[in-house]
Amino acid sequence: MSESSSSAFAGRVALVTGGSGVIGSAVADVLRERGASVVCADRAATGDWRGADAPALATAPVRLDVTDRRAIAALVERIGLLVGPVDLLVNVAGVASFGSAESLAESEWDRVIDINLKGAFLACQAVMPSMKRQGFGRIINIGSVVGKNAGNARPWIDAAEQECAGNVAYGVSKAGVHVMTGFLAKELAPYGITVNAIAPGPIATPMTTSFPPQLKALIPAGRMGTPADVANAVLFLASRDAGFITGEILDVNGGMLCD
Ligand SMILES: NC(=O)c1ccc[n+]([C@@H]2O[C@H](COP(=O)([O-])OP(=O)(O)OC[C@H]3O[C@@H](n4cnc5c(N)ncnc54)[C@H](O)[C@@H]3O)[C@@H](O)[C@H]2O)c1
Repeated sequence: MSESSSSAFAGRVALVTGGSGVIGSAVADVLRERGASVVCADRAATGDWRGADAPALATAPVRLDVTDRRAIAALVERIGLLVGPVDLLVNVAGVASFGSAESLAESEWDRVIDINLKGAFLACQAVMPSMKRQGFGRIINIGSVVGKNAGNARPWIDAAEQECAGNVAYGVSKAGVHVMTGFLAKELAPYGITVNAIAPGPIATPMTTSFPPQLKALIPAGRMGTPADVANAVLFLASRDAGFITGEILDVNGGMLCD
């Protein structure tokens, strides 16, 4: 069956962290359109998953902080009981961070690494046992081009603006996500589980509205990415057709970085 058909993901159960956000909701939409049951979990959501029944779980986003290991494990267990074992995890939850390395507060470093890197790891850990039991799973982590290029070059900016443009904690957190993806890919490959990451370039979302328009000049495709560009890459990596692809960091960046 073609992965673009409306039932290509029928029977599949997905957990999308950061599912209230712009990219997360686009990911949830394309998976639902293809028949998957999708649970969106997000720190900003108001729904309480503890009392939710199966339809409620798979409809509106539920509140979850990905840095809370016990809560993630309990949510995954509840999804397994009510909806079915999670066979697709998409780690989208993340926060941006700006500021020069010299002035970056220790608390900001900890916050960004905790959410973007540890949070993604904890969610992966939570789904591993049931994916292994099923002998099938897809884990897709959202990294970033900034985790590869040590920050977007902004040759037009002056020193004062550079202070705002720096984002070392964010870049390191996303580089960590890329490396973690490889480690988990190797550990889980014997169980039919693939683990991949997507490294988007700048995507037109509120996270990037403060970016200067000149940034487009760094993107050979001549435009920012869209949430759909990322969601379509998720669809491919989540598909059965992508079963021999694991440990890959898939660039979705309009040619901004070719490595
Ligand atoms: N927008 C871009 O240009 C871009 C580029 C590369 C990578 N990314 C990554 O894509 C992902 C989504 O970005 P977006 O642009 O949709 O931003 P967004 O702010 O719309 O979405 C991020 C979501 O993560 C949630 N979140 C934050 N901390 C959380 C926590 N502790 N627990 C649970 N949820 C939490 C937020 O509430 C938000 O809904 C992020 O990981 C981001 O780093 C974005």
